[in-house]
Amino acid sequence: MKLFVDTADLAEIETIAGWGVLAGVTTNPSLLAKVEGDADDIYRRVCELVDGPISAEVVAETRAEMVEEGRRLAAIHDNIVVKLPMSAEGLAATSILATDDIRVNMTLCFTAPQALLASASGAAFVSPFIGRFDDIGQNGVECLRDIVEAMETSIYDTEVLAASIRTPVHVTEAARMGADIATIPPKVFYQMLQHPLTEAGTATFTQDFETRRAKAKA
Ligand code: E4P
Repeated sequence: MKLFVDTADLAEIETIAGWGVLAGVTTNPSLLAKVEGDADDIYRRVCELVDGPISAEVVAETRAEMVEEGRRLAAIHDNIVVKLPMSAEGLAATSILATDDIRVNMTLCFTAPQALLASASGAAFVSPFIGRFDDIGQNGVECLRDIVEAMETSIYDTEVLAASIRTPVHVTEAARMGADIATIPPKVFYQMLQHPLTEAGTATFTQDFETRRAKAKA
């Protein structure tokens, strides 16, 4: 499973990209609202930091406006993927953009039928939102399982991008379910790094190395 980071924070993207683990980035209007600067400049900089699909979301509501905004975003950089919401207008716009070879990430997918529609319209990525399902007392991981299983039957080449990830357990479950990609907030990336036995083991190795060196000097 490929790992994307889910943020528009350039410093966070640069830090995690520096670990050599990132295959792409997703953003959305809410994430952009948390950072300063012109959105197009942010997308350009993200494309310089990470060589992979970079999702930039449209805010237009009609298919014609979505296509126009999507074409404008795609022209920023070859790595830009146009993010469109699951809706009849979003599907229609996806099919038009796909004929222009512009990749679309269909976002806010919560069911297998929605994912099948997205795939049939030509979406390159479909984004089930795990955490938001959990937020309403339903099982986000089971929703992801339904979508992954349904997409295995799709004749189209659409990748399942597990989104709205809240914990490292969600990442593990997304991998176990067979998602192609998980897009992960920076906070969860830092949590994924950690385990008390890793920290304790590292401290012990360092201490034992120093003890041996001290003995050799004596
Ligand atoms: C994915 O592309 C979305 O930007 C994101 O994962 C939404 O996550 P949230 O439900 O935590 O806002």
